[in-house]
Amino acid sequence: MSITYKDAAGIAGMRTACRLASEVLDYLTPLIQPGVTTLEIDRLAAEYMKQQGTVSATIGYQPSGYPPYPGHLCTSINQVVCHGIPNEKALKKGDILNVDVTVITPEGWYGDNSRMYLIGGEAACSVQARRLCQVTFEAMWKGIVMVRPGIRLGDIGHAIQTYAEGNGFSVVREFCGHGIGQRFHEDPQVLHYGRPGTLEELRPGMTFTIEPMINAGKRDIKEMGDGWTIVTRDRSLSAQWEHTVLVTETGYEVLTLSAGSPAAPAFVTPPPAAALA
Ligand code: MF3
Ligand code: CO
Ligand code: CO
Repeated sequence: MSITYKDAAGIAGMRTACRLASEVLDYLTPLIQPGVTTLEIDRLAAEYMKQQGTVSATIGYQPSGYPPYPGHLCTSINQVVCHGIPNEKALKKGDILNVDVTVITPEGWYGDNSRMYLIGGEAACSVQARRLCQVTFEAMWKGIVMVRPGIRLGDIGHAIQTYAEGNGFSVVREFCGHGIGQRFHEDPQVLHYGRPGTLEELRPGMTFTIEPMINAGKRDIKEMGDGWTIVTRDRSLSAQWEHTVLVTETGYEVLTLSAGSPAAPAFVTPPPAAALA
């Protein structure tokens, strides 16, 4: 496999796919409440994708060595790091939930993004849970703002790791961001830790995800018996945020943005819209 550099048509295809992936999360956001099951969220998302004219990239997804993934999205609660499978258990006040949505457009382009939800609102969640979600969001953006031609993937990983560890949290090593285009997971791998000036140099037209998984405790993980669900080994809380980004001639464009996207942190200057002009 190798890196694909998107031309104007590819960039247009990716913009559409990524906006639609973000709009699925916008649609779900008000529905994600105490008492709702993650399977209901999955069903609602599937219906919405149908209306959009997209299909889920995750349902039936089967990398070698894995069973087919059974959900239209991933729902990862509390100590679940990633790839949580929607089920009949109701969300409860104080849970933290990651919802990860990847859609495919009729033209075959993939858009991939995820957000954290504080179930029952900020007041229902522990200080640690809120801080973990906030720091993870900021860590993702610390990586995003590095993106421009000439920097290297190690610069992105280093920025994320420095920020997360500086706040007393740990970075999961076994899963990473990824190139994306007309395939779900393309080269390069985008590690969320690393050393400045190392690994692949960024060039315009690359599209990849930045999706740090950050643990409140130790970084170690383990896989559950279902072949998909990943949890923290020490059962500490874990959070993740994900955007798909494009490397432009001068910097970056965040592709997975829509009306309901949470605003970027204050350190992101100029804001993304201005960064593309
Ligand atoms: N959306 C995830 C990612 O960000 C991948 C999920 S694969 C699944 O790369 F099969 F678990 F859905
Ligand atoms: Co994802
Ligand atoms: Co991804």
